[in-house]
Amino acid sequence: MFKPSICFDDVLLIPKKSDISTRDEINLTTSLGPHEFRLPIISSPMDTVTESTMTLSMFKKGGLGVIHRYNTSKEQCEIVRDVAATLEDTSSANISKIAAAIGTSSDFENRVRFLHDCGVRIFCIDVAHGHHSLVERAIKTIRDVFSSTVTIMAGNVASGFAFEDLSKWGADAIRVGIGGGSICSTRIQTGHGVPTLQSIFDCRDAGDASLVADGGIKNAGDIVKCLAAGADMVMLGSMLAGTTEAPGEVFESTDGKRYKVYRGMASPEAQIAWRGEARSLEGVSTTVPYKGPVDRILEKLEKNIKSGLSYSGARNLKEFRAHAEFIRQSSLGVRESQTHILFN
Ligand code: XMP
Repeated sequence: MFKPSICFDDVLLIPKKSDISTRDEINLTTSLGPHEFRLPIISSPMDTVTESTMTLSMFKKGGLGVIHRYNTSKEQCEIVRDVAATLEDTSSANISKIAAAIGTSSDFENRVRFLHDCGVRIFCIDVAHGHHSLVERAIKTIRDVFSSTVTIMAGNVASGFAFEDLSKWGADAIRVGIGGGSICSTRIQTGHGVPTLQSIFDCRDAGDASLVADGGIKNAGDIVKCLAAGADMVMLGSMLAGTTEAPGEVFESTDGKRYKVYRGMASPEAQIAWRGEARSLEGVSTTVPYKGPVDRILEKLEKNIKSGLSYSGARNLKEFRAHAEFIRQSSLGVRESQTHILFN
């Protein structure tokens, strides 16, 4: 009666024979539609994660930043121009790797045209429930106007049926994961959602689009599991929030520690800041410790992901998917898998 459901901590990857001597032998290059990226990481289109400095850092490290859509189109355009002025190599191949989020409301066409004039070539149709006729209309409209000269990322979806539909409608990449985000309360408020890892398993073979795992990824191990299950890239919110490059001020609390705000885009705080009222309450706002420069975090993640591939004896993501074998762990296994001396 019930479909099976696997979440990140339910599984581990079985180590495989390896002849890799250093992490330098491992290549994490991946693709999102027609674009290649050296690092399979995307920063979330959120107002406490991605504006200009995060976009620039993601770009320089070989990943992708998606400029959030609570900015006006003019603000998004200024961010794009800011990043393009800062870049040393402003070739069109480079500029075309900057992404901007859009919605599906009546003025979305104007926003797309305006952003396209600004140089944006990757559009992220960013809605909570992506298996929707409005998303179908948005994808088809953008395709009609710009054909295959632009890349469309759309979502979010949680099932193979949805992934198949969005692929057929023309999405080049699809964000997979509903209700798993660290700041998300969709499952509590609506009873809907699927663990992100399960959604990746269900979606991977359901269509040709690139798969972006999104929501609930809390450490490098989870990223490695997403890539093993078939994700082409992962999208991170909380893991990049609290860094110097995330929008927002650093503040000091009474205990002398430094923090930054991280909030869901459907939290009352983000909604009120955006449109003056809270129409949806599927997210929360919180504070996270200040983490310093995002480069340090991305460098550490890159090393850990490469170590993950080497445990499976894989030199690239294609080999990794072919070699990867998951094993289920019990709840006691989950406990043993943690650095358990810290809890005793
Ligand atoms: P993590 O776990 O990386 O999740 O912090 C980031 C992802 O969460 C989604 N997101 C939300 N989901 N309510 C939701 O249900 C929200 O307010 C919200 N804000 C962001 C989004 O997919 C993001 O990439």
